[in-house]
Amino acid sequence: MGMKRALLLAVALAASVLSAAGATTVAEVKKKGVLVLGTDPTFAPFEFKDKTGQITGFDVDIARAVAKDLGVKLQIQAAGFGALMPQSVTSGRVDMAMSAITITAERAKVVAFSNPYYRSAQVFIVKGGNPQKFTWPADVKGAAIGVQANTTGQYVADDTLKSRGAALKVYDDFAAGLADVQAGRIVALVGDAPTVTDLQKRLPGQFQQAGKDLAAEDYGMVFAKNSDLAAAANKTLARMKASGEYQKLLDKWIVQK
Ligand code: ARG
Repeated sequence: MGMKRALLLAVALAASVLSAAGATTVAEVKKKGVLVLGTDPTFAPFEFKDKTGQITGFDVDIARAVAKDLGVKLQIQAAGFGALMPQSVTSGRVDMAMSAITITAERAKVVAFSNPYYRSAQVFIVKGGNPQKFTWPADVKGAAIGVQANTTGQYVADDTLKSRGAALKVYDDFAAGLADVQAGRIVALVGDAPTVTDLQKRLPGQFQQAGKDLAAEDYGMVFAKNSDLAAAANKTLARMKASGEYQKLLDKWIVQK
């Protein structure tokens, strides 16, 4: 096959993949009557399965409000965080993703973010009582520290902990990292601050933060590039903040320090 033909084929293939993609516009979502949310439901209080197996949390309630304002139903699709960011969104398998997803310049090259909806931080999660007396930055050298794959926790650890001699262990599943903290297989797990306060509420005494925050960050809702759904989500967010609905959700889901 000639070069030119191979190129044309590749372009056609890419185009067919794009046209097979799900709704990326408000009009398309309204036409099909559902907004499909992709989420990795292992991250309380933002997204997790309740006792009945229902996916619930702060993010889910916000997505529900976006769907309601669009006059459509919310449909939830679970995915691992690595698949969710960004393939589920860029392939159109979902219309939007919410998963405590941090806004970064790198990610903004491939997906569209809403305005920030939650101020968060990366922190060190250690066993309750901090039996290994881990502090940051003093005790990073030689320490076994866990991170969740493809998260900003991993990025910040690659940037700032590797060079200080930490032995990083990468987990696909955040819960597996927490289990290894409990078992003492790793000293600390890098994770999002609100997950620690949530763990302290649900499993008193078992986990705590050690040392200062590693990095501050903001969460955003995620859409396909150039999708007008991002503007619609921003409108809902502004409406919820003005009406007090947003504050109610904070009170409902997120334990304030
Ligand atoms: N905020 C971090 C990030 O965006 C971690 C998010 C992990 N979320 C999850 N549902 N597992 O990379």
